[in-house]
Amino acid sequence: MRAAYATAFGGEDPLANLEIGEQPDPEVPAGWALVRVTSASLNHHDLWTLRGVSSRPLTAPQVLGCDAAGRVEALGDHTAGAPSPGTRVVVHAVIGCGSCAGCRAGDTGVCQRLSLLSEPPHGGALAELVAVPAANLVRLPDQLSDEAAACLPTAYLTAWRMLFTRAHLQRGMSALVHGATGGVATAAILLGTQAGVAVHATSRDPEKRRFALELGAASAFDPDDREAARELVSGTGGGVDVVLETVGEATWGLSLRSVRPGGTVVVAGATSGPNPRAGLNWVFWHQLTIAGTMMGTRRELERVVTLCASGAVRPLIDRVVPLEDARVAFAVLAAGEQRGKLVVRIASS
Ligand SMILES: NC(=O)c1ccc[n+]([C@@H]2O[C@H](COP(=O)([O-])OP(=O)(O)OC[C@H]3O[C@@H](n4cnc5c(N)ncnc54)[C@H](OP(=O)(O)O)[C@@H]3O)[C@@H](O)[C@H]2O)c1
Ligand SMILES: [Zn+2]
Repeated sequence: MRAAYATAFGGEDPLANLEIGEQPDPEVPAGWALVRVTSASLNHHDLWTLRGVSSRPLTAPQVLGCDAAGRVEALGDHTAGAPSPGTRVVVHAVIGCGSCAGCRAGDTGVCQRLSLLSEPPHGGALAELVAVPAANLVRLPDQLSDEAAACLPTAYLTAWRMLFTRAHLQRGMSALVHGATGGVATAAILLGTQAGVAVHATSRDPEKRRFALELGAASAFDPDDREAARELVSGTGGGVDVVLETVGEATWGLSLRSVRPGGTVVVAGATSGPNPRAGLNWVFWHQLTIAGTMMGTRRELERVVTLCASGAVRPLIDRVVPLEDARVAFAVLAAGEQRGKLVVRIASS
């Protein structure tokens, strides 16, 4: 099969580790299914993999990609009840161990041995075929295109869980998100505003700030602009209810200063580094909740799929490139130039 995969990890230029070429078709163990992928999307996770940053030791070649939409190609043994071959599906990318307390409670997000598609020993979504647990197949409504669906399993699911499961945001409340035009951030702006939440955004780039406002952000400012941060705090009557933190070291201080006393900072990532000054005195004095989050459950993905199929939220796609040109999309991601999701068309749907 054709695939985008890593031939090595780390080094000066992570994109030098990227190859588009032939890889063996995946095997389908009992309880698993084979999906013929039509559309996949890129995530910062793919860059981390090329850089050699992973939850477990990496070995080359590693097929990349967490997010796949397509059709069921075949089912392994013991897959009764799974969507039959030919069914349009999107794949829940979180693979739990199936036996720990978290998995038994239906929340693979807190699985003690959690892994994602494209993390060893699993193949990835940026390929003509991907093997996944049959329980991870989510049927696609006709109203949702494969390209739109391919945006959902990581960025939209993560943003959804941050906003509504971890932070309990409701109509009339407020949030702040950093890196305004990234995958998770654009998802948070769209999902949050659709639910009546005022989503404020930061970006270092004035063009990206303008774009965030057009997308529906309540305000947009430079994360290093202290006066703008003070205005946000006064304008929201003491700070936003929730900060969605994915940038890490570069924005952590701003996140703590921007959230209201008693508010919540939900942490999903640390693009600029994982070890900011903790500011613990600020955390306890203002009685903040710091909440980590990982992807989301299959049930949450189904809710996101239903919402997008209803037309209430349209996943924002920066561009769609064919698999053979995936390197172009990776370069845009590495440069942080994307406005929303970068989709790779693997085959026509
Ligand atoms: N826990 C989870 O389940 C989960 C799920 C998805 C993603 N993540 C993590 O969340 C992060 C975002 O993911 P993504 O796919 O949305 O990434 P992305 O699309 O590549 O996000 C790019 C944005 O990050 C911002 N950024 C990067 N470096 C920065 C810095 N030094 N200072 C300020 N802003 C910086 C940029 O903002 P500006 O240029 O606009 O300032 C850029 O727009 C990644 O670290 C990813 O690994 C975690
Ligand atoms: Zn588990």
